[in-house]
Amino acid sequence: MEKFVIKGGRRLRGTVSVSGAKNSALPILAATLLSEEPSEIKNVPNLRDVNTMVKILRNLGVRVLMGNGIIRVEPRGYSQCEAPYKLVSTMRASICVLGPILAKKGFAKVSHPGGCIIGPRPIDLHIKGIKALGAGVSIEGGYICAKAKRLHGATVYLGGAFGSSVLATANVMMAATLTQGTTIIENAACEPEICDLADFLVKMGAKIKGQGTPVIEIYGVKRLFGAEHTIIPDRIETGTLLVAAVVTNGEVEIKGAKPEHLGAVIDKLREAGAKIIVNGNKIKVTGRKRFKPVNVTTLPYPGFPTDMQAQFMAAMCLTDGISVITEKVYPERFIHISELNRMGAQIMLEGSSAIVRGVPRLSGAPVMASDLRASAALVIAGLVAKGRTEVSRIYHIDRGYEKIEEKLLSLGAEIRRERSNEVHPPQNLGG
Ligand code: EPZ
Repeated sequence: MEKFVIKGGRRLRGTVSVSGAKNSALPILAATLLSEEPSEIKNVPNLRDVNTMVKILRNLGVRVLMGNGIIRVEPRGYSQCEAPYKLVSTMRASICVLGPILAKKGFAKVSHPGGCIIGPRPIDLHIKGIKALGAGVSIEGGYICAKAKRLHGATVYLGGAFGSSVLATANVMMAATLTQGTTIIENAACEPEICDLADFLVKMGAKIKGQGTPVIEIYGVKRLFGAEHTIIPDRIETGTLLVAAVVTNGEVEIKGAKPEHLGAVIDKLREAGAKIIVNGNKIKVTGRKRFKPVNVTTLPYPGFPTDMQAQFMAAMCLTDGISVITEKVYPERFIHISELNRMGAQIMLEGSSAIVRGVPRLSGAPVMASDLRASAALVIAGLVAKGRTEVSRIYHIDRGYEKIEEKLLSLGAEIRRERSNEVHPPQNLGG
């Protein structure tokens, strides 16, 4: 296992580029299963989760070539229809092969993703969606078994207790591309990753409109073709680098970003006092020594992203007041609080709101990463804390950030990756 050793107190300065979006690459790689023809996906980040998705494709009998951020998928004649427990249990997002395999093969067997450290993550909307398209679904031996001789178009409302679902929207949209008739998804997720997926599907020959709005219409076609596509930049990585620059009172330019995907995050950082200048695909951010407390509520896009909640909380630890951070997407996503409090933060939990009382400073400490975004928050806290911080179990961060320590080093941070003598605990890693 590995850990990060961080010496805090350096101001981040310089220019850094953003990688392709993990949460776009995963469903887009799954979508290649809808065609017999090869597809080429570019700007794919080199991440643990992407490697897991490639393993799932290969396990289905698909040929996959990868190198230099390009993945070529040759799905011709793949014979398997199963995504096994041993892979799905390491990455929940594996569920997004369900729709494509079902639509292409008429039968799909995908391990039920089970529980997750960030909270209950039911899949009722995924099942509701494919049932509406005519699939018979059963849960057997821990697997979702879905079958349908011929899927048909339908109108399906995909709203859950916490609003829209990104991957349920993706699954139903992908399955609907090869159905007979028209499918209307109501209360669809509007995330940029859904638009990127729809753009790729359209390049494959699908007929889709309304992506990016709560109502998506898909007109089924008989077959889809191979296509080339370049993945959008990762808005969560961009947001994470923005917060890191702000808390270290830094001066950083982020290149290759899509600022329009970060409206809520940029707005809240400005409210806290950061200076942010957007210029095309560049974002220039200037931090400050102390910043104002800001209240945040996470919501589906275009609201404030839940995947930025932990990182923003780390920043709110260093204000001259009290911030309230409310989770409306994953009400229990607060496992990072105890580790931040170990660094001297003062955070209390009230239901699904965290009350963050600003402190003069954080102090470095050994802390443990628990999930992808929580680990990013601990790295940010380590960058600004006094002294040495050791963040263990960084395999979590490797799931979603490409070479994060090299990017931070290039901005002047004092951070290094080291082997730790901890043994790797098996667990469901979420995502
Ligand atoms: C996607 O997960 C992202 N993952 C998550 O990012 C992100 O946190 C999440 O969207 C919300 O923005 C990928 O894109 C790979 P949801 P997804 O279905 O699609 C409830 C990261 O850090 N729900 O939109 O699985 C659910 O419990 C990861 O990169 C149902 O009730 O999330 C949650 O409360 C973590 N029934 C809410 O909807 C369902 O069938 C939103 O979840 C499905 C979801």
